[in-house]
Amino acid sequence: MKKYKLADNTIDNQDYLKMINFLKKRSYLNQSIITKKFEKKFSSFLGSKYSIFVNSGSSANLLIAQSLLEGGYLKNQLVVLPAVSWSTTVSPYLQLGFKVVLCDTDKNNLGLCVKNLEELCKKFNPGLVSVVNVLGHSNNFDKIEKLKKKYKFLLVEDNCESLGSQKEKKKLGTFGFASSHSFYFGHHISTIEGGMVSTNDKKFYNIALAIRSHGWARDTETRFRKNLEKKFKIDEFKSLFTFYYSGFNIRSSDFNANIGINQLKKLKKISKIRFKNFKIYKEKLNNFWTQKSDLKVISSFGYATFVKNRKEVFKYLKKKNIQTRPLICGNMGQQPFLKSKFYQSKSKLEKAKFIDRYGIYLPNHANFSSKDIDYICKIFSKKAKPIFF
Ligand SMILES: Cc1ncc(COP(=O)(O)O)c(C=O)c1O
Repeated sequence: MKKYKLADNTIDNQDYLKMINFLKKRSYLNQSIITKKFEKKFSSFLGSKYSIFVNSGSSANLLIAQSLLEGGYLKNQLVVLPAVSWSTTVSPYLQLGFKVVLCDTDKNNLGLCVKNLEELCKKFNPGLVSVVNVLGHSNNFDKIEKLKKKYKFLLVEDNCESLGSQKEKKKLGTFGFASSHSFYFGHHISTIEGGMVSTNDKKFYNIALAIRSHGWARDTETRFRKNLEKKFKIDEFKSLFTFYYSGFNIRSSDFNANIGINQLKKLKKISKIRFKNFKIYKEKLNNFWTQKSDLKVISSFGYATFVKNRKEVFKYLKKKNIQTRPLICGNMGQQPFLKSKFYQSKSKLEKAKFIDRYGIYLPNHANFSSKDIDYICKIFSKKAKPIFF
C-alpha cells in the first residue's frame, strides 16, 4: 500500500551525484568559501542583505537571541512569543534568562493574535517580540508593525515553516529585524541538517558571525575585526584566539552548504507545488476550517484544520498509511518543559488551547501529485467531523 508521508526528501539521486563530485574535488569540507557562496545566494533569494548558515533552525533561533543580547539591541529581557510555535522557538530565550510571555493565536493565519499582543505590550512592555509564520502562512504584519512603533519593541521572525512564501513582492522572513530558517529533512529545502539567520543589519550580522564560531572575530568582515582589535589592543599573534563575545559552535560545513546551493535552485518550483496542493485541500475540504492569509505565494508546509474526533481520524488515517500530526506543538503553555515558566495575562490562550485540543495537520510536500491530495481528502472526509473556532 502506498505511503502518504507527512514530509518527504527533497534530496534526489541527482543531488547525491553532485555530492560525490563535490567530495572528489575537495579535501577541505569545513565552513569556508562555499558557505559564503550559499549565504549570498540565500540572501539574494530571500531579499535580505546578510545571511549566516548554521547547523539547524533551532541554532538559528539561539543565534538570534544571543546576538541581540550581546549587541545590546534590547531595552529589556522580556520576550513575547507565540503560544502556537515550536520548542526551540521558546527554549533559547529561557536558556538565556529572558522572561517569556506567551501570546494567543490569530484565528485566521495562526500567527500572533494582535489584540492579545497589544494587551501584553501594555502589561509587560516587551523588549522583543518573535512571530512564527505557521505552516507557510503570514502574520498580520501591517498591524504588528504599528504596535512595534507604538510600544517600541524589536521584532524577529521564526520562518522555519514558511520558506518561499511571499506577500506581494516581499518574502516572509524579511519583515523582522532578523529571521530564522530551517533546512531539516522534509522542510522546503534540506541540507540534511541546517538553518539560516537573515538580517539587513551589518553590525548584527558581524556579531552573529562571531557568536556562531566560539565568539572569535576571524569570520567577521575585515573592518569590524580591525575595530575590535584596535579597541581591545590585540596584536596579530593573539588575534586568532581572542574571543570577543560569549559564543557557541553552531557552524555547519561547506559540504552541507554545497547541498544547499543545489537545493535553492529547486525552491521556487517546490513552493509552487506546495501552494497548488494547498489550494486542492482547500477546495476539497471546504466544509472544514482552513488557514488564511493574504499572500501571493503560500509555500504551504502542511494543511491545518480542526476535527471534533481527532483520535478516531488519526487512527483511521494511520490504517490507510496517511501520516498526520498535532497542529505543530499545540499550545506551548501546556508542554511539560514550559508549563510553570511563562507569563500570560487574562485571555489565558483560549485559541491556542482550542488548537491544542482539536488541531491536526495533513501532509503536504512537493512529491505529491494532485491525485494524492484528492485521495487524502477523500479518506479524511469519510471520518472527520468538522469543528470551528
Ligand atoms: C517554527 C519552528 N521553529 C524552529 C524549528 C526548528 O528547526 P530545526 O529542526 O532545523 O532545528 C522548527 C522545526 O520544524 C519549527 O517548526
